[in-house]
This record gives sequence, structure tokens and C-alpha cells, in this order.
Amino acid sequence: MTGVSRRGLFAALGSGAVAGGLVATGVATAERSGASAAASGSSGSSRVVPFHGEHQAGIATDVQANLHFAAFDVTATSREDLVSLLQDWTAAAVALTAGREVGDGGASGGAPLAPPSDTGEAVDLHANRLTLTVGAGPSLFDDRFGLAAARPAALVDIPAFPADALVPERSDGDLCVQACADDPQVAVHAVRTLTRLAAGRAAVRWAQLGYGRAATVDPSAPTPRNLFGFKDGTANPAGSDTATLDAQVWVQPGDDDAAGGGGAWMAGGSYLVARRIRMHIETWDRTSLQEQEQVIGRTKAAGAPLGHAGEHDAFDVRTLPASSHVRLAHPETNGGAQMLRRGYNFTDGTDGLGHLDAGLFFLAYQRDPRTAFIPVQAALARQDALSEYLEHTGSGVWAVFPGVPDGGYLGQQLLST
Ligand code: HEM
Repeated sequence: MTGVSRRGLFAALGSGAVAGGLVATGVATAERSGASAAASGSSGSSRVVPFHGEHQAGIATDVQANLHFAAFDVTATSREDLVSLLQDWTAAAVALTAGREVGDGGASGGAPLAPPSDTGEAVDLHANRLTLTVGAGPSLFDDRFGLAAARPAALVDIPAFPADALVPERSDGDLCVQACADDPQVAVHAVRTLTRLAAGRAAVRWAQLGYGRAATVDPSAPTPRNLFGFKDGTANPAGSDTATLDAQVWVQPGDDDAAGGGGAWMAGGSYLVARRIRMHIETWDRTSLQEQEQVIGRTKAAGAPLGHAGEHDAFDVRTLPASSHVRLAHPETNGGAQMLRRGYNFTDGTDGLGHLDAGLFFLAYQRDPRTAFIPVQAALARQDALSEYLEHTGSGVWAVFPGVPDGGYLGQQLLST
């Protein structure tokens, strides 16, 4: 399969000093049991989302059921090691998203006296529409890798908002990986695999599991509900609406030059803002239905704008309560700005005081956070009636790389600047 022994591969990974090409050849190829059948069978082939393309998958892709998100601190000190890390992640991502095991011999086909190259927990689970989406945070553009001049003007630090309760251990990171799949174990296996491959070059800073997609980009699919019981994602752009995505989500050639930044390499990419938002569900559950609907600006059952019957009925945003979430977040209130929301519900045990630590892991992709997330969140933090029930406990922003062409690697557009 490849000329690299697993012993050599992992010894080299341990030292953190392997040239990218060498490690990349050691990653990826054993078929996951059943994956070849899946690729040819009717149910299986539709479970593979292509990895290569103009844009990374996992943004306009129909939202999968489960999320494992991880932010990494890069511990490598040279640009070569950063490049090798991203090459290895690319090779692994190609295999994982196709439903294959990683490494020589995969989970059980290698030498019996060596640890298996693939940890094995996703064997038989197929690709399950796994996508891996990778980006670079503001901190990657310091002086460690000679990238300061390539920092896009749009990749600003997210300002502090009133009532933020951000925990540094749940915020920021040099790199992010968003793994989404229709099986939770497939998403977890993917992040675990990238973490293992990163040994000596990057370490997980924080991670978040999510379930029960809290948005949709497929208008024909039923809109999912968040933990307040309301439909979430109704007004999201459709993943197939290329005109809106070009205008609001994908960075266009020339965007950053015009702003005087170094981000010409970002054309085809997108900016991701993540917020871990704790929802005080116990307080919400004691609030009347009428009050809940006034706070959101939509009905609970149908998700219709107040005063209307149907979820997708056209409405005049000025008829909604002034402090309602939908009125304040609506494009008409925000100079036409839209985001593609792709969040997930989370429940992380309890806070030790008898309350669930539950909420929304908000993920929003946009062409420029300075005209989308930042002004919208500034307005919400000031006036949104929903804020009373929320606490933002984590935050991060990343320049999500443009898509990877065949034979290329994640972030190549940046690292070849
Ligand atoms: C836990 C926190 C949040 C909850 C429970 C929540 C819930 C909702 C709900 C129920 C809707 C109406 C249905 C829909 O169109 O999706 C909505 C819409 C929206 N939300 Fe949120 N949201 C939260 C946080 C945020 C944040 C932090 C932002 C951005 C800063 C945001 C931006 C939007 C936008 C842009 C819309 C669409 C408005 C429209 O065009 O009608 N939301 N949200």
C-alpha cells in the first residue's frame, strides 16, 4: 500500500519532525469494512460528501445530525511542520470522508505486535456524510510562521459584548476542525484521528460535541428545533442558493485587497464565528407561551412570524416586537447582512447547582464578520429580549480555508503566500 511502516510513521509522528510528504503517504487507505459496498450500494453512495472542490464541504452541505468541533493550539515551531500537519490532515480527511480507515493496515490489518493505525471505532459505520472543515484563527498570524502579512483584514478579533461570560479554555485556537456526520461516532473518530496525527505539532485546546442540528440549509427539509423548543434555521440561506452564498457567505476575489488586508488567498473561503451559548432552560420553561413567542418573534408550533400562520409566510419585520430576536437579527435591521447558521444543540452534564449545562453551539459562516456577526451580535446583546435567558461562554473566529483541489492540501493557498 505505502512504503512507510507504521512503526516508522508513529516514531516520526512522536518526534514531530517529519516532512509532510512522508507522513502523508503513511495515512489513509484501508477500506473500512463495508465501505466499498457502501460506495456502490444505493444507501452507501449517498453517504459520501466529496472532500475536494471550490469550497470546503461542511458549510453549504445539508446539515448532518451530529457535530464534533475542536480548536487546536499549534505547538510546531516551524512553517515546514505546520505545512506537514495540514498535509497529513488532508490525506486523513480524504480517507475518512470517503469511509476508509487511516494508516497501513487500518484497524486490524497491520502487524499484530504493533498498535493498529486506525483506532477502529468507526469500522462498519461508513462515511455517514462526514465532512471535515478546517480554518485558521487570528493567533496563527503572529510571528511564529511568518504569516502576519497574510492576515485578512476581515479576520478581526471578536470584540467583547455586554454580558459575555467567556471562558478562555473554551475560546479561540490557532486552527479549528468542524467534523459533522450523521453518526456521532464517525464525527468523534475523525477528530480523534486528526488529534492523533497532530501529535508533537498541535494539541486540542478545547472541543464541543453537538447533536440535533439547530439549523438547516435545505428548505425542503423540516426545520429542526433548538432547546427552547422553537424552530431554528427557518430564514437560513439555502445551501443550493449560489447567488446568496456568493453575496453573503463565500469570500470573493478582491474582497480583502480592497480592505487593505493580506487575505487575497481567502477567495472561496468563509469566516466562521463559533459561540458556545448556554441557555437557561429552567427559566425559559417557567415563561408563558405568549411571552416566549414575543421574545422570539415567531410562533412556537408552526414557527410562523407573529401575526401569520405559515412558517415561510412573508412578513414585515417592523410588525414584530421591537426587542424580539427575529426583528433584531433580520437582514433588514442589519443593512442586508446574512449569515449561514449551522449550529448544534449541546447538553454537557450539569452546572453542579441543579441546572443542566445545555444550550446552542452557534456556528455561523459569513463573507465578512465585520458586517455580519459583529454588528448583529452587538444589537442582540444590547436589546434582544432573548439575552435574558442566554450566557455566551465560549467564542472563536476562524478564516476557513478555500476548498482543496485534487492533489492540494488544506490551507495551501495561505501557506504558499
Ligand atoms: C441560544 C441562542 C439563540 C437562539 C435560541 C436563537 C433562536 C433563533 C430562532 C428560534 C430564530 C427564528 C427561526 C429562524 O429563522 O432561524 C432565529 C433566527 C435568527 N437568529 Fe438566532 N438564536 C440564537 C442566537 C443567535 C445569535 C448569537 C445570532 C447572531 C449574532 C443569531 C442570528 C439569527 C438570525 C440572523 C436569524 C434569522 C432572522 C431572520 O432573517 O428572520 N441568533 N434564532
